[in-house]
Amino acid sequence: MRQVPFHRPAIGPDEEREVIAALRSGWITTGPRTKQFEREFAQYVGARNALAVAHCTGALHLALFAIGIGPGDAVITTPFTFTATAEVMGYLGARPVFVDIEPDTFNIDPDKIEQALNGAGAQDVRAIMPVHFAGQACDMDRILALARKHGVRVIEDAAHAVGSARTLDGRGMTRVGTIGDVSCFSFYATKNITSAEGGMITTEDDALAARIAVASLHGMDRDAWKRYDSSGSWYYEIHDVGFKYNLSDVHSAIGLAQLRRVEELTRRRQAIAARYNAAFAGEPGLQIPIAETGVEHAWHLYVMRLRTEALRIDRNRFIEILRERGVGVSVHCIPLNTMHYYQRRYGYRAGQFPVAEDVYSRCLSLPIFPAMSDEDAAYVIETVRAIARENRR
Ligand SMILES: Cc1ncc(COP(=O)(O)O)c(C=O)c1O
Repeated sequence: MRQVPFHRPAIGPDEEREVIAALRSGWITTGPRTKQFEREFAQYVGARNALAVAHCTGALHLALFAIGIGPGDAVITTPFTFTATAEVMGYLGARPVFVDIEPDTFNIDPDKIEQALNGAGAQDVRAIMPVHFAGQACDMDRILALARKHGVRVIEDAAHAVGSARTLDGRGMTRVGTIGDVSCFSFYATKNITSAEGGMITTEDDALAARIAVASLHGMDRDAWKRYDSSGSWYYEIHDVGFKYNLSDVHSAIGLAQLRRVEELTRRRQAIAARYNAAFAGEPGLQIPIAETGVEHAWHLYVMRLRTEALRIDRNRFIEILRERGVGVSVHCIPLNTMHYYQRRYGYRAGQFPVAEDVYSRCLSLPIFPAMSDEDAAYVIETVRAIARENRR
């Protein structure tokens, strides 16, 4: 039986060569390769400033810290995300204000953001943190307009969104990374480009960029990473409390090689998604994901729903059978309001976000990664269809 894992990174000779060069260069922590990774990433998304960090979690933490989020503040976000999005708010004594998602895109619903900005507790809201779910950019025109009207900042969780773009009013097709106040990307092992672990922060705001850079390395001077280089100074100043979120040159070496392949890697994900969509569109038990027009979907995830009313098995059983037949599957996402921590700390309860919870009860994520062969994709299609047909009501 064929085995198709949920993910396998697309690591090849380019990544190997870059890593070996970094290891042999005599400089393995943050240094010239990280700076180059930042320059090339900034150029790729068209951003003024880019700072490489240890992970997207750190990027989100730094972004909130840099805009001054602190105890008592609130940040509007989606419950249909990985915990990192909302977890970082708790680092700063702030709280997440979850609002429900759109049933088609699974992105945060701008109407619900508007309600939250006008509802009880709105005076504490200092920022909105949209998540470009699965690599499909949120409706940023509406989110930016709401943010401007209510005087709050926009920090984008772009963990899924390398390669993602959206048509904006007056700007045309725009890559994620220059839209909100700050964008935070992830290069975790499964992401669209990887550095094994890593993240990138982009912003058009030079003052914010400077604050983030200082906070990312213990509150030290911006170029303190050079202090062991012959061109650097041994003296550094500590300006404020900071964190240890720098990215090493070994990680950046992988990231640089991946970034040079980003178009190829994105196109491959898009091609697999197109095949899945074409194959599953006519199946009564299956509901394919919706890609909006005017959006360049980066297909970090392929999140499909089951029409459980047309099937004799539920989502969990469907996943079990897929696994028995050698197909790796996952679920994105388990709504955060159903998790113990969010219930204990912030008083959230199950049942508060009917759209997210309904999607969760019926969704599964199929393998979609550039290292997948056409035969792997065909096997996933054949297996998913067979299970749907064998279990039709
Ligand atoms: C939506 C979202 N935000 C943030 C993160 C955190 O990314 P990292 O693992 O780079 O910290 C993830 C990771 O999966 C994610 O899916």
